[in-house]
Amino acid sequence: MSGVILKNLTKSFNKVTAVNDLNLEIRDKEFMVLVGPSGCGKTSTLRMIAGLEETTGGEIWIGDKLVNDVSPADRDIAMVFQNYALYPHMSVYDNMCFGLRNRKVSTKSSIPILNKRRAFTNQEIDRRVQEAAEILGLKTLLQRKPKELSGGQRQRVALGRAITREPQVFLMDEPLSNLDAKLRVQTRAELIKLHRRLGITTVYVTHDQVEAMTMGDRIAVMNNGLIQQCDTPLNLYHNPANLFVAGFIGSPAMNFVQSTIVDTGDGLMVDAGSFKVAVPQNRVDLARPYIDKKCVFGIRPEDIYDAKLPGLVDPVPANTVTIDVDVIEPLGSHVEMHLKSGDLVLIAMIDSASKAQSGDKADMLFDMEKSHLFDPVSERAIY
Ligand SMILES: Nc1ncnc2c1ncn2[C@@H]1O[C@H](COP(=O)(O)OP(=O)(O)O)[C@@H](O)[C@H]1O
Ligand SMILES: [Mg+2]
Repeated sequence: MSGVILKNLTKSFNKVTAVNDLNLEIRDKEFMVLVGPSGCGKTSTLRMIAGLEETTGGEIWIGDKLVNDVSPADRDIAMVFQNYALYPHMSVYDNMCFGLRNRKVSTKSSIPILNKRRAFTNQEIDRRVQEAAEILGLKTLLQRKPKELSGGQRQRVALGRAITREPQVFLMDEPLSNLDAKLRVQTRAELIKLHRRLGITTVYVTHDQVEAMTMGDRIAVMNNGLIQQCDTPLNLYHNPANLFVAGFIGSPAMNFVQSTIVDTGDGLMVDAGSFKVAVPQNRVDLARPYIDKKCVFGIRPEDIYDAKLPGLVDPVPANTVTIDVDVIEPLGSHVEMHLKSGDLVLIAMIDSASKAQSGDKADMLFDMEKSHLFDPVSERAIY
């Protein structure tokens, strides 16, 4: 068993609290993504797991072992960085086995933990390199130097170096961010396959929510050194716990509108000022405390429809809003529309069959079953 457990993990640099009382349980064989904006504490968290950074407080468990005082080399982890420094004068083969060859051998050490390390035979080293090269499609490139490789191939060598260590846990810090867009998507898929094949517990850091959504078994969304929510990609998308997660997950981002709830006698409506839409029947009890009070209405761009396009969603007159079409950006299957209602701008992803033109007033249907409501003070989701 080699999950990773972080208990009340804290890291301060002088006055900056980079990681603030973080609790996270990464399961054995799980691919866990830490995602959040730059500076939210992702790298600090990873470096503490690796042992490259001391903790200010809290515990780190790998498998069933408390590793706070275990040296990085003895934690049985392998880390892949954004800047995958390869040795330029060494072949791919030598780069991949560098860590294994340089493993220190110590005999009869008075420090028990050192006794457990052993040197690898050349045969064992070769087996590991050949296996990693096979997995990563590097077999024909083993004798090349890094400068004779493409960016993607170099990144695979860096991964290979991590794989040959056959660690209990992989730690990856934005390993794809130096690749161009196409290669990033490709390598992303390769990493997922690799994880399926090796089944090694992985903690993967990225600031890119698309990468997080496509790769993670679960995603821990971080902000300001805190985990905002940890769940499967789809649960984060459908049930964000707060405004931050709602705005961070999904692209284009969810629309937020300062609103109040009004009781029409017939049911509850979200009153956004320039338009009203109906609170879904099964959410009425949750919305009731916000009658005549401030709340934040949330709707994703993909949950707004052109009411004139038949069949996409059941027409509900109460949830149809007449709104100004401002800008239209064609994206192929969909168009991104900027809709204006008074001072309000909403982004909508509309099927490109829509006939609405810039400058039109168009009827847009809000899929209220998919809408959200947030408390403006606590920023927590009401539903
Ligand atoms: N060595 C350091 N000294 C001082 N402050 C640091 C150091 N490393 C990170 N920080 C600060 O800690 C916070 C979190 O940084 P980091 O973990 O690198 O975030 P992320 O990887 O999410 O971008 C930032 O405010 C950063 O400036
Ligand atoms: Mg970082």
